Amino acid sequence: MTSPTFELSQLDAVAFLRTLPAESVDLLFTDPAYESLEKHRAIGTTTRLKVSQGSSNPWFGVFPNARFGELFEEVYRVLKRDTHFYLMCDQETAFVAKPIAEQAGFKFWKPVVWDKKSIGMGYHYRARYEFVLFFEKGKRRLADLGIADVLEVPRIRGGYPAEKPAALSQILIGQSTAPGDLIVDPFMGSGSSGVAALTLGRRYAGNDVSDDSLKLARERLLGAGGVEGSVIVRPANAAPVQQRLALG
Ligand SMILES: C[S@@+](CC[C@H](N)C(=O)[O-])C[C@H]1O[C@@H](n2cnc3c(N)ncnc32)[C@H](O)[C@@H]1O
Repeated sequence: MTSPTFELSQLDAVAFLRTLPAESVDLLFTDPAYESLEKHRAIGTTTRLKVSQGSSNPWFGVFPNARFGELFEEVYRVLKRDTHFYLMCDQETAFVAKPIAEQAGFKFWKPVVWDKKSIGMGYHYRARYEFVLFFEKGKRRLADLGIADVLEVPRIRGGYPAEKPAALSQILIGQSTAPGDLIVDPFMGSGSSGVAALTLGRRYAGNDVSDDSLKLARERLLGAGGVEGSVIVRPANAAPVQQRLALG
């Protein structure tokens, strides 16, 4: 089997999706820097963390809820027919994001619960879970109908800020794609969704605005046996994609 290919871009998420042709993506899997993360960063009411607890990296800027409309419209446009869209978020963002994604055309099925298997911060019951909102464009059958909607995967400690375990992404990507399919993550962070995609023999296009993200994701994807190359067939007249960290 040839090594799975990946492609990285460094653009605003919506600008990145606008570079992709319509109906070209098999799965959109992402974990935006959602607005309510600001609250999770707060200590008391005034102090903001510059560095995440449990990580040595600086936090990233947020993607405002007011931009969900343009984001989900683009997600819907780039997905092929009969595909899935997974959106990782907390309970507060779930209520905001769901109606906006439905407005964009998605069918909302349910939040899949990520059980992190250990407690984190919080005063109103300590936080142990997050949601992965499960949306559908058209109609698509999950690969394994026996998998529960609560996924128990230990949280990552000391990684990229808000890093998600690749093992969690792997379950969801395996459920919603086939080998050779193209997975896209416009807020890739450390590239954990990409590690999962490549491990399963899928192609991957990741994007993030941050220099740290691009550097780390590239290292991880090459380490996972990926080959950097072109996975997106763009129209000949498409604007060039900015890639500040050049190949090699
Ligand atoms: C929650 S983190 C993603 C973490 C990732 N799932 C992982 O496992 O490492 C969100 C990412 O969104 C990026 N980001 C923030 N605003 C963005 C924007 N407008 N466009 C693209 N990426 C953005 C941040 O740099 C950050 O890396």
